[in-house]
Amino acid sequence: MDRLRCFRMMLRPKTHVFLSYSLSLLLIIIFFFSSTNAAFNNITTIPFNDGYSPLFGDDNVVRSPDGNGVRLHLDRFSGSGFISSNMYQYGFFSARIKLPSAYTAGICVAFYTSNGDVFEKTHDELDFEFLGNIAGKPWRFQTNLYGNGSTHRGREERYRLWFDPSKQFHRYSILWTAKNIIFYIDEVPIREVTRNEEMGADYPSKPMSLYATIWDASNWATSGGKYGVNYKYAPFVSEFKDLAIEGCSADPIQEIPGGAACSEKLDKLDAQDYATVTPRRRLAMRRFRQRLMYYSYCYDTLRYPIPPPECVIDPSERLRFKETGRLKFGGSHRRRSKRRGRTFTPVVEDDQAD
Ligand SMILES: *[C@@H]1O[C@H](CO)[C@@H](O)[C@H](O)[C@H]1NC(C)=O
Ligand SMILES: *[C@@H]1O[C@H](CO)[C@@H](O)[C@H](O)[C@H]1NC(C)=O
Repeated sequence: MDRLRCFRMMLRPKTHVFLSYSLSLLLIIIFFFSSTNAAFNNITTIPFNDGYSPLFGDDNVVRSPDGNGVRLHLDRFSGSGFISSNMYQYGFFSARIKLPSAYTAGICVAFYTSNGDVFEKTHDELDFEFLGNIAGKPWRFQTNLYGNGSTHRGREERYRLWFDPSKQFHRYSILWTAKNIIFYIDEVPIREVTRNEEMGADYPSKPMSLYATIWDASNWATSGGKYGVNYKYAPFVSEFKDLAIEGCSADPIQEIPGGAACSEKLDKLDAQDYATVTPRRRLAMRRFRQRLMYYSYCYDTLRYPIPPPECVIDPSERLRFKETGRLKFGGSHRRRSKRRGRTFTPVVEDDQAD
């Protein structure tokens, strides 16, 4: 009897902890995976063969048998890439992507929009760049934007992911409108840039193509270039499918998108569910950024003593960053991840390299 009571007393607090842990886990799962699902259920995809073509490393651009998707290979001879057949003046660019697994140090997989081929000196660009890692360490990624050739003003943010991007396909999307830019991973908006008059031409505004590439970025991608690509593990393969572009296809030279058809398309784009950051999505974005963003140019006062005009400085957030724009305490990140990060930062704990 006594033993049983003692046993129960021992058990109870643990049960309690377990229940509250399960509950918060459940809430997080609901939060991330069901709150905003509708936005991405109704995307019209363009089969690879109908809307895209190889950009470089043609032999390493391997179409899927059904013509829907493509695999980009990197081997010791070449990386590879593809480009959309059309350019778009504003749009939604999206794909389901699976990154190479195992040893991926030095590799960069990029999913981005650009017009660098047409406007060499004054190009616009919106980037997802995935950076490989040594065995057992997770992929990282960064987002960035340039407008009218503002390449000397990088606007990088760097983050960890809440899943292993080499295990399953996840949807990565870039929404670009006249008003704002939103980067999405699955249904979670991870970054929003609201157009600001002071940004001027730094805000991308000329028609862009969609690009995806895999390439050898040994000199910077992993721990500042410490670990390069090891071709013993080649070929490195990144898979793309369910590619989608919504927007107004436009002639880059004409610059101003013409006609009623275009404004209709842009109205439709603005009316899409994913064009609005609802309060719930904003909360999901804040949670993502609190837990997984580890560098922001907005807090990098060594580089930008005055933050660029689109930066929204959150005073409590700023406290967490050093003047280099990087997180102050690797330690506080660890504590957090031990307590409740398991659900969506399963790989953060031993991860201090970069
Ligand atoms: C899906 O998209 C089509 C075309 O944009 C639209 O007509 C339709 O209403 C959408 N359906 C839902 C459920 O949002
Ligand atoms: C873009 O840059 C070019 C070259 O620096 C400049 O001539 C042009 O005025 C800029 N465009 C805008 C919209 O500011």
